[in-house]
Amino acid sequence: NRDHPVKVTVVEVGKGHSAEESSSTIDSAPSSSSPLSSSASEGSSPKVQLSEPFYPVSLLLQNDETQVAVASLPGNLGVPSVPKDEPPTTIDPQDAGGPDGWVPRDPRMVRLTGKHPFNAEAKLNDLFNQGFFTSTNLFFVRNHGAVPKVDLDMAKHWKVEFTGLCNNTSFSLEDLRTKFEVVTIPITLVCAGNRRKEQNVVQKSLGFSWGAGGVSTALFTGVRLCDVLKYVQPERGAKHVVFEGADQLPNGPYGTSQLLSWASEPNKGMMLAWAMNGKPLEPDHGFPIRLVVPSQIGGRSVKWLKKIELSAIESQHHLHFHDNKVLPMPVGPDQARVEKSWWYDPRYLIRDLNVNSAIACPDHDEILDAPPSNTYTLRGYAYSGGGRRITRVEISLDEGSTWRLAEIEYPEDKFREVAYDDTIYGKVDLTASDLCFCWSFWSFPVLVEELSKAAAITVRAMDEGLALQPRDMYWNATGMMNNWWFRVAVHHLE
Ligand code: MTE
Repeated sequence: NRDHPVKVTVVEVGKGHSAEESSSTIDSAPSSSSPLSSSASEGSSPKVQLSEPFYPVSLLLQNDETQVAVASLPGNLGVPSVPKDEPPTTIDPQDAGGPDGWVPRDPRMVRLTGKHPFNAEAKLNDLFNQGFFTSTNLFFVRNHGAVPKVDLDMAKHWKVEFTGLCNNTSFSLEDLRTKFEVVTIPITLVCAGNRRKEQNVVQKSLGFSWGAGGVSTALFTGVRLCDVLKYVQPERGAKHVVFEGADQLPNGPYGTSQLLSWASEPNKGMMLAWAMNGKPLEPDHGFPIRLVVPSQIGGRSVKWLKKIELSAIESQHHLHFHDNKVLPMPVGPDQARVEKSWWYDPRYLIRDLNVNSAIACPDHDEILDAPPSNTYTLRGYAYSGGGRRITRVEISLDEGSTWRLAEIEYPEDKFREVAYDDTIYGKVDLTASDLCFCWSFWSFPVLVEELSKAAAITVRAMDEGLALQPRDMYWNATGMMNNWWFRVAVHHLE
């Protein structure tokens, strides 16, 4: 009977292997034996309801044009809408009593490193269902340590200090807002460890297991880094821009650097941002100010930004060397731990993201119980780095022997089309760059009958530089930049 329902369930590669869930993170995150680190099910203290949220949501953007502009985005132009969810107000029992015991967080976030530090992603399906923009509440978080506690008064007096080979000066948020043009740009951030879980299943790396949810998109508001750099007049000999955050980690503050030539390039879209989705940054995302670097790995977007140094040499911060590297495959975790020289080889530093894609529909363990003549639409996301656009997404139902083209949607374009309309956006400039800074979405309708015969669904994407996701995983000690074909296995239940 052709119309007899077909039951299949799909399993994402790397799911169902829970051994890695609370593994230690690269470098400064405590191991699972730390007193602060325990599995997500632990922590019996009651939910703490903050009578008065510590974090003042209306701070800084009161009467600010940016907030008004974002709030008035029209819904009828096909423009992706900006999530307007209120930030969470409750403290998770797992945080109560710990260093982040004052940071309200969304309970839907899946913790990947036990209680502390907070490293979390939304379930892939929850993330995907958000659409183009991710609610700040479900935006992935990567913290190497405790969130710096910054109150309203501290934020008002917060200064970003410029030092080194330039006019040494400092800017408050008010200074930045008034001295430079304010821009608002949709940007996708991606952790270099996105999809690391699949690597950890093959062989444990030094990093903890991200699923495919270490990626999120928001509308960031701030000033262009290139404008501020021009103002401070870098001196001869300055080659690098070194950024430092306020978080205190065991080996000093978090810091990393950019080439000055890249940071000064307007089209690269780097910005000093204070708002996300039209509201002040949340504590987990760098309140009161952060660097946002589109199209590079998330690790370059320094949060709780305090200091910017113009320098002849790259950042000397511990994590600039000991994180965000793809070491050669033959260098195992133990060798990398012992032979420190691997970390100082500049060839292994990661800047731009690489081409990647994932399947969100069907979801892990989804059961498809439908007549064979029905159509099921496979869906997912794809992104690349360096401002490069995804140019094709291909689907295989026979383990890569044959491929078919999926449809690709670029919501970012829609956004830019209307961005020129001053009557809607006021002074906010959404056209800061013509490069591609955001994820795209793909879809591929397929007959259930065909799915019922497939052993797996596989996706791969290509970008403008003709970089194609590889068939084979490039396993590496830090477990970074995993971008082999994304594959879900199909199990036939009857
Ligand atoms: N900045 C500081 N100061 N401290 C950090 O731990 N983590 C980095 C980056 N900036 C980090 C930081 C990493 S590895 C990533 S992937 C992004 O922040 C994550 O940004 P998000 O937490 O806002 O998503």
